[in-house]
Formats: sequence, structure tokens, C-alpha cells
Amino acid sequence: MNQEELFKKLVSHCKEYGFVFQSSEIYDGLSAVYDYGQYGVELKNNIKKYWWDSMVLLHENVVGIDSAIFMHPTIWKASGHVDAFNDPLIDNRDSKKRYRADVLIEDELAKLEAKIEKEVEKARKRFGDTFDEALYRETNARVLEVRARYDALNQRFNQAMNDNDLAGLKQIILDQEIVCPVSGTRNWTDVRQFNLMFATEMGSTADGALKVFLRPETAQGIFVNYLNVQKSGRMKIPFGIAQIGKAFRNEIVARQFIFRMREFEQMEMQFFVKPGEELKWFEYWKDIRIRWHRQMGFNPGDYRFHDHEKLAHYANAATDIEYRFPFGFKEVEGIHSRTDFDLARHQEFSGRKIQYFDPETNESYIPYVVETSIGVDRTFLQVLSASLHEEEAPTADGGVDLRTVLKLPPALAPVKLAVFPLVKKDGLPEIARQIINDLKFDFYCQYDEKDSIGKRYRRHDAIGTPYCVTVDHQTVSDETVTIRNRDTMVQDRVPIAQLKEIVGQKVSLRSLLGDAIKSE
Ligand code: GAP
Repeated sequence: MNQEELFKKLVSHCKEYGFVFQSSEIYDGLSAVYDYGQYGVELKNNIKKYWWDSMVLLHENVVGIDSAIFMHPTIWKASGHVDAFNDPLIDNRDSKKRYRADVLIEDELAKLEAKIEKEVEKARKRFGDTFDEALYRETNARVLEVRARYDALNQRFNQAMNDNDLAGLKQIILDQEIVCPVSGTRNWTDVRQFNLMFATEMGSTADGALKVFLRPETAQGIFVNYLNVQKSGRMKIPFGIAQIGKAFRNEIVARQFIFRMREFEQMEMQFFVKPGEELKWFEYWKDIRIRWHRQMGFNPGDYRFHDHEKLAHYANAATDIEYRFPFGFKEVEGIHSRTDFDLARHQEFSGRKIQYFDPETNESYIPYVVETSIGVDRTFLQVLSASLHEEEAPTADGGVDLRTVLKLPPALAPVKLAVFPLVKKDGLPEIARQIINDLKFDFYCQYDEKDSIGKRYRRHDAIGTPYCVTVDHQTVSDETVTIRNRDTMVQDRVPIAQLKEIVGQKVSLRSLLGDAIKSE
């Protein structure tokens, strides 16, 4: 399967097996809004728990909150979202389609990067084991020429974005001869700014209702609760506040399935530190967060940091953790050193003193903030992209067929254990049900008696169930069952009494949290 086919397969797999559905599908759907199905919600909840436990349980100085989606409208003025949470958009006059100007240019950059990777892959095949990739990248004339074009375009793009130069962005699109994918023409309008916040009205008064926004990030709910949490929890700096919740953005370009949605979920943590110590903590959280990703056990080479060349005016360091999706390397998480910008602005706009009194130095200051911000839905897509495999598997009659298997980390799998009676008689279903009744308080188990054992294995491979147990006639006499491992397809005979320990160890979050994320 090439990457495009893999992605198509992933989208249809999500629907077929109850992971993700288009929202309002029976009404022809709502663009860039999705619903999670019976297995999707389990996987999503497991991802959230993996994040929450790694942040809140494993860090004594990080606590969680759950703030409201609606907030006072002045918060969005203070945060800068009313004036500056914009995307540059451009229309094609022939197709009447609307695009994000920056995304059109980023796609050009991605094409150049893909050209370089293609050259490297070709050379790898040509030279075999003697291939020195680093040397090839540094010296090959073709690679260097494309790299130079990439750097020049990237620099021009960053400059235009930095300067908010909308005419400059349009000129890049014209100079690069970018065409509309639908009409194939270069008949572009000027680039305009478009605010991404959804607005609605709250209550109703004689003067009219209050205009409020659906939050475009969960972070502001943390900033405006800084004083509440610090005082009620007697928190000492450095400390963090974590939150998981919905966010809403009126994205212009809704593409790539759940990668860019209009309603999505974030897992954010603001870490409050002494001014001057923020870059040390920035490095600390970079390290913790990349280990959290890598601990899931996928190919480490598919993750990379992308340091921001263009820093927001209030940030003094920023990086993204990117993953190699089937459509290229893209951001999953942002880590930002945001100085005291947000707290200082809320102090200014609310008129409340938002400071920390340091009992050791007897001084008061506005804390600096290091933020880690990751999308639940993007992580979900990342985990599925890395887990979905098609591979050959032996059939009962000694042949070979193709199986689709989700090699999810067992701790994240929706169903941990499936239990099958070999036949629907001779007391086997009753034993299978008894096993589930004994284990269902420890992890999610499912009973399945329909079709052949082979078909039942395939069904559970497709949803990523790490273990399948079969109850057969031997079970009746010696209380043992076969347990089949999803990835190796090896079956072992084990006593029923040992199932809890065997499965429990493998599917527990501890296996992911383990050594990778150390508490300080
Ligand atoms: N408080 C900082 C903040 O919101 P961001 O880079 O705009 O930063 C953080 O968003 C993360 O939220 C992203 O890395 C991404 O995983 C997720 N995210 C942002 N917009 C999204 C969208 N439209 N759909 C899905 N996930 C999104």
C-alpha cells in the first residue's frame, strides 16, 4: 500500500469498525465535524487517560482543572484572539473554492521536501548497505539544488507571515505558479484575514444579548484560574495546571479527516515558573513530551521537532512535535515558552493583581509560562496511522490470506480481551461468560460466539484487541484456555486463573508510563 492508499484505507476502516463517523451523516454530513463511535470513544478515552496520568499523577506539582467552554468575552480581547486569531484566506475566482494562503505555500514546501526524500530513497536502493545518508544529503547536487529552493521559499514565506504581509503571500502564490486543485487556474483573489472564532449569544437583556465565543483553545481557562488554583491548592512555583477539553475553530480549509476539525479536543498544560527560568523548563518539557510520544512504541524516526523560526511576539521559544502522517510530517503538539504575556494581559484587562509572592525571596512577580498543547484527535489519527497494517496470515486450511490488524499499544486498545466459546454448546458459552464476569472490572472484555474462530480473530485484529481467549472442550476438564497474541498470532495454553495477571500486566497504563516519564 502506498501512503495515499493507506490513508484512504484508514478513513474507511474508521467508519467500518465504529471508530469515527462523519457528523450528521444521514443529513449528508457537516464539514470538518466528526463523531466517535463505540471503539473510537474507548481509544480516545485511553489516550486522554495516558496523557492525564502522565501529567497529573506522575508530577506532584501538576494539578488538573475543567473550566467552562463559555468565558467572559473580554478574555478573548485580552488574549489577542479577537484582533489576531486570523488565517489568511484566498479564493479562486473560477472554482469559487476558498483556501488558506499559508497552507497552499506549505503544500509547495512539502512537495520540495518530498522530492528530496525521493532522491534519498532512490540512492539508498542503489547503494545498499554502503549508503551514507548524511553524506549524500550534504553533497548530492540534485538534493542541494532542491534544498536551496526550499530554503529560499521558506524564508520568504516566514518573512511574509511575520510581517503580516498579505500582498507578499499572494505574490509567492503567483511566483510559485500555484494552481487551484479544482479549476487548475491561477485566477486568485487578494489574500484577506479571516477570524477563526465561532460567536454566539448568551441570555437576553433589554440592551440585547451578550456576544460570547466558543473557546478556540482551552489554555485561557487555565490562565484565568491561575489565582484560584494557586491559592486554594497552596501551590508553589514551579507548578502546572492541566486541562482536557473541547475547542472550536472555524477552519477555512477542512481536510485530511480528523486532522483539522472545527470542533476538536485539546490536552493543555500551563507550567508557571520564575522569570528567567523558563528556557530551562522549556527544555525539560520538550524532553518529557517527546518521550511520552515515543513510549507508545511506534517508529522513533517518525517523530521530529520543528523549531519555530517565526516566533509570536510574546514567545521566546517554540517548537512543534511533528509526526510522519501518510500525508507528510505534520504538527501533533506545540510546546511554547509564552513569557508572562497571558497573565500580564489578564491583569491589565481584569484590573486584578495576578502575581506570585515568593516566600523565599520576599518578592512578587508575574510568573512566566511554558505551555504544552496537544490535540486529542490528532493523536488519535497518529496512533491509528502508525497501528494500521495489512499483512499475510495463515488460514485454518494451511493457506495464506491478508489480515487487517491494528497494532495498537495494548494499553490504548478499546477492547483488551475477547473471549470465544469454540462451539455454542457443551457448557462452553457459560464458561466464557464466567471468565468475562470475573475480569470485566479489571479491563474491557467482549464475548463473541458468531462465525468461525478464524473470523472472530480477524474481527478483533481489525479493532486492535491484543488478546483473544478460546474456551474449548479441554477447558471443561482442566480449566485451561488458549490465549492468542494479536501481533505474533501465537497461541498458548494457560490456566484461566492466570488470565488476569497475564493480560492485566500487558494492558495496564503502567507499561506505557513506566520509566519514560519520570516524576521529579
Ligand atoms: N494554546 C495553544 C494552542 O492552542 P495550537 O498550536 O493552535 O496551540 C495546539 O493548537 C494543538 O491543538 C495542535 O498541535 C493540534 O494538535 C490541535 N489542533 C489545533 N487546531 C486543530 C484543529 N482544527 N483540529 C484538530 N486539532 C487541532
